[in-house]
Amino acid sequence: MTRSKADTPAMKAIILAGGSGRRLYPVTLTVNKHLLPIYNKPMIYYPLSLVMLMGIREVLLVVNPQDLQDFQRLFGDGSHLGMRIAYTVQPEPRGLAEGLVLGAEFLAGAPVCYVLGDNVFFGHALPDLLREARRTVEQEGGALVFGYPVKDPQRFGVVEFDETGRVRSLEEKPEHPKSNFAVVGLYLYDAEAPAIARTVRPSARNELEITEVNRAYLRRGRLRVRLLGRGFAWFDAGTHDSFLEAGEFVATIERRTGTMIGCIEEIAFLNGWIGREDLRRLARPLENTEYGRYLLELAER
Ligand code: TTP
Repeated sequence: MTRSKADTPAMKAIILAGGSGRRLYPVTLTVNKHLLPIYNKPMIYYPLSLVMLMGIREVLLVVNPQDLQDFQRLFGDGSHLGMRIAYTVQPEPRGLAEGLVLGAEFLAGAPVCYVLGDNVFFGHALPDLLREARRTVEQEGGALVFGYPVKDPQRFGVVEFDETGRVRSLEEKPEHPKSNFAVVGLYLYDAEAPAIARTVRPSARNELEITEVNRAYLRRGRLRVRLLGRGFAWFDAGTHDSFLEAGEFVATIERRTGTMIGCIEEIAFLNGWIGREDLRRLARPLENTEYGRYLLELAER
């Protein structure tokens, strides 16, 4: 069924910032992974900036009970960014699909951009690509995910294509991957997603797998996969090495170009969600840092 944009509510976002972070132990024994710095800003800024670049203003953060206050101190209700940021607690890290169930009330029938809080993306044409993807799901429904070529597909959900480029299979962390395309941690779903997620049963590793949600869309013939080519960088910053790589990558680009990746205040300003004076106010407490000076310069431009 094709629906006109008029009857579909605007897309909202859910960012997953819970989990156990075991692969980053002992660092994450006491600190939530998403609050750790990728170079000069907390990891969670990167997925948040992505949904902001898509023009999404209403965001739900899924967090662990013990970390709720930290996230609230960081973002409040989001109004300083001209956004609405809400929180929901995931009592146990039961898997990626659970956030859709926990977020059903927040979504209230809206389509969703569902993002993993430890994923960092970069690419020149990325905002355009994402906005086009958003429009597609808002107007036509179904699901849309992204594939990215990786050397170690065993670590990820893997998508296999047939000769005509149609998706043939989706497998979660396969021992023998059928392709080297990983499904990245950014998924766009229509309003059916929470109901589908409710039907997912725990996997062999006892998690509610997001791949099962994607498979349900595939079975209905409603899954689209867009490939991110060589021009894009994608990091799942959940291991010590990938965490470091993501930080080095951001530092390199930022030093070289003098522009920031994942600067949420900048995006709010450029989106017209906050004004010049708001930006100055946000920059002032940070003025002893490059980050703060960057915002002040932006406000004067
Ligand atoms: P993962 O990296 O798969 O898991 P994790 O963060 O618990 O880390 P580890 O495997 O090292 O123990 O999670 C992907 C993202 O989803 C990450 O940003 C954390 C988040 N997440 C949740 O919010 N809830 C969950 O139940 C799980 C499993 C992950």
